Amino acid sequence: MDTRPPAPTSNNVRTFYTRPWLDRLTGRYTVSWENEGNVASIRVHNRITDMEGHKPSLASLMKVPATVKTYFEAKKRSILKNPVPFLVYEAIEHLGTLVEPGSKVVELGGGNSTLWFLGQGAEVVTFEHSPEWAEHITAFARESLGDDAASRLTVHVAAGDEALELARSLDDSSFDIALVDCMNAFTWRKAGVEALLPKVRSNGTMCLDNSDHPNNWSAVELLGKSDRLRFTGYAPMCPVVTQTSFWTVP
Ligand SMILES: C[S@@+](CC[C@H](N)C(=O)[O-])C[C@H]1O[C@@H](n2cnc3c(N)ncnc32)[C@H](O)[C@@H]1O
Repeated sequence: MDTRPPAPTSNNVRTFYTRPWLDRLTGRYTVSWENEGNVASIRVHNRITDMEGHKPSLASLMKVPATVKTYFEAKKRSILKNPVPFLVYEAIEHLGTLVEPGSKVVELGGGNSTLWFLGQGAEVVTFEHSPEWAEHITAFARESLGDDAASRLTVHVAAGDEALELARSLDDSSFDIALVDCMNAFTWRKAGVEALLPKVRSNGTMCLDNSDHPNNWSAVELLGKSDRLRFTGYAPMCPVVTQTSFWTVP
């Protein structure tokens, strides 16, 4: 039985520490939200499981050295020498089986994932809230991946309602893969999933990162919690256990 509180019905989720530095050290914090006057919260006690309590797989534990390496590399350069999506490692492997040259990808929240998709030969449409970050991604594509890759990238600098409106104006069923990985503070991922779902073709893939986080529970419920392919484990640059999920679009 699911004993957790009802999912947030809007993008009003707050995270706070009760005893700031001790809590930061031990990975304890509270995530809280309010649905029509009813306050709900969960307490996170550590980050050696995901926020739903799932343990990382053994294969994921083997990726800890890669997580540490990319953690230090990302401190020096925000785009890695060999960019990979900042998703759970096994989720990246799964994505690698789905994407091929000519695949059409749409993503909310760009970065290393954008460049990795381009490196796989995909055509990529990215919605990104930060103009500086968008420019950084575009320049990396042009300068490090070359003209062919750069020509396969479209970046829309937009957030919130503006990004959602633009996403809704894309042709229905025109993408093979959608990745929703934006910052919730700028565009709520649940609204992003709603906007992009009709844009993915039948048997295409919807991927949602941090699907264990309360802010994304509504998106998971919309897509069907029991229908997901869930990966719990470590991701590049992320020294805590997190979760990435996939859905096959009907
Ligand atoms: C979770 S990240 C998106 C990551 C991307 N989908 C990936 O897998 O690489 C969400 C947002 O964080 C911001 N971001 C990510 N890395 C950043 C960096 N190194 N510097 C500044 N902003 C960054 C971007 O605005 C991005 O849309």
